[in-house]
Amino acid sequence: SKKAFIFDLDGVVVDTAKFHFVAWQKLAAELGIAFAEAENEQLKGVSRVRSLEKILEWGNKSIDQETFDRKLIQKNEEYLEMVETLTQDDILPGVHEFLLRLRESEQPIALGSASKNARPILKKLGIHDLFDAIVDGTDVSKAKPDPEVFLNACELLNMPAANAIVFEDSIAGIQAANNAGMISIGLGEAQNLSEADEVFESFLDMPQDYQQQLLNKTK
Ligand code: G6P
Ligand code: MG
Repeated sequence: SKKAFIFDLDGVVVDTAKFHFVAWQKLAAELGIAFAEAENEQLKGVSRVRSLEKILEWGNKSIDQETFDRKLIQKNEEYLEMVETLTQDDILPGVHEFLLRLRESEQPIALGSASKNARPILKKLGIHDLFDAIVDGTDVSKAKPDPEVFLNACELLNMPAANAIVFEDSIAGIQAANNAGMISIGLGEAQNLSEADEVFESFLDMPQDYQQQLLNKTK
């Protein structure tokens, strides 16, 4: 049978989560706000604007709109400088092979990301054309954990939500998948992603027979 395979981008397909972390940490430091792994975990899957709002909330700080906008532009410029260094080697282990296997068996594939930089990043990595549909931060109005991004992806693939499998590294993204009634598979540390239906450290840890079982799995 066919499933809709929906992939998050940052931290699932490509190792850009570390770049977001570096850029947010620098911005927080400039504002005198503490920012470590635990805070970063809360920002995964969260839009650029909402991320800065959260950092300000944590630091109990407010800044005027002009400064807010300038900080975000600066953050994105620093992030994109790091993105410039990306090569195919930064595709996370096992992802490329998995995508190719899915294509071979003609399974519908989509990207479901909060990032506004998703399309250029996929092009840079040379894997843009492996996706049948792309829904990113430029297409949606409601952020994860709202299911909009994944529901849109299903619609573009012409598949029902109940037949979708979502791969996510963020808490917000796992919640979005669950809210959509989709199977949620976490990539990362099990303790962070306890709400996922299943968690693997990486695609390399996902057994071949599990991949096969996914085709028949229901929520
Ligand atoms: C993803 C990342 C977040 C990032 C968001 C927006 O969800 O996990 O860390 O803030 O996309 O990305 P952008 O590239 O638009 O700043
Ligand atoms: Mg992610």
